[in-house]
Amino acid sequence: MQFDSLLGKRIVLITGKGGVGRSSVTAAIAQAAARAGKRVLVTEMADGAGQSKHSEYDDEPHNAAIHEYSPLARLFGRERLPERKEELMPGISGSLLLPLYGHELFLTSVFRVAAIAKAALHSEALRRLFQAAPSLREIGIFYCLLTFLQAKHADGGFENELILVDMPATGHALALTGLPRTLINMVARGPIADALREGQAYLTDPAQSATYVVTLPEALPVSETLELLEGLKSSNMPIGGVILNHVPRDPFTAEERREVAGMLDAAHAKEKGVLGEQSFRYFDEAKRETERLEREIKVPLLRLPDAPPGCGSLVSFLADSLLGGSP
Ligand SMILES: Nc1ncnc2c1ncn2[C@@H]1O[C@H](COP(=O)(O)OP(=O)(O)OP(=O)(O)O)[C@@H](O)[C@H]1O
Ligand SMILES: [Mg+2]
Repeated sequence: MQFDSLLGKRIVLITGKGGVGRSSVTAAIAQAAARAGKRVLVTEMADGAGQSKHSEYDDEPHNAAIHEYSPLARLFGRERLPERKEELMPGISGSLLLPLYGHELFLTSVFRVAAIAKAALHSEALRRLFQAAPSLREIGIFYCLLTFLQAKHADGGFENELILVDMPATGHALALTGLPRTLINMVARGPIADALREGQAYLTDPAQSATYVVTLPEALPVSETLELLEGLKSSNMPIGGVILNHVPRDPFTAEERREVAGMLDAAHAKEKGVLGEQSFRYFDEAKRETERLEREIKVPLLRLPDAPPGCGSLVSFLADSLLGGSP
């Protein structure tokens, strides 16, 4: 089953255009993976949705003005993800990816004592440096991720067996995944370079990491997905697959379709609009675009159905679908 391949990874980035269902899909993957017995960590960048009011450095200490609220966190009954890892529900923890936290973790690894790292972060000069250099933001996020990847559980396994990142807009996804290479070129030696290399080794290893692109079975999103897949190639990120969300269930058999299409044509001949025609045509578009994706992509395609009204929890519905295979 295609979902098994995802389950075997350590880190999965969920990307795609706005509103296609990245957060819902992330939550559904988390739930499905937890049901399959994984210790899952769900993350997102602090200002992922562009809702941050001001810099996380503005206030003391760590009380970053993060999201007003996070749609991802809402799916776990919270207003926002915690700044430090916390359990959201059995088997699923959550944490924001905060640059500042990454910087603190990084300095702790350099100084070996958390108190000194914290004190160092309170140095005005260092804070200004971290704040000013744009790539340091990404290094912070990157270091957060690396720390989560490396953390060991008391049972000898990994603390976070599967880490899910609900990525912000498509452009940022490319920025983060293309980042290590750019930075490694800039910082050749030292602990930052080592950390970046290690992080990059995780992110570029197809056995451990995968990017999944969420999309809809419609013409424009499919075209954009094909472009994004092209762009991702240059980032060296292994592509796990495309998740086609909102796949509509066609209530008609092929024969019924032909009949309805004939009736619609007859109505058009009389210049009459017909209620429901758009939905009827939408199935055609969805089918056509699904076939186009299947033809064009060289990675697995996972389909998630459009949730029918009254199906209860969307996340559970999608998790069931992931575990049960394609509808
Ligand atoms: N398979 C589905 N069936 C029905 N509704 C869905 C499905 N997937 C997502 N939705 C709904 O679509 C809306 C957008 O979903 P979601 O917030 O997960 O998208 P997103 O890509 O994370 O958006 P954003 O770009 O704002 O972060 C939500 O109202 C969600 O409940
Ligand atoms: Mg979202």
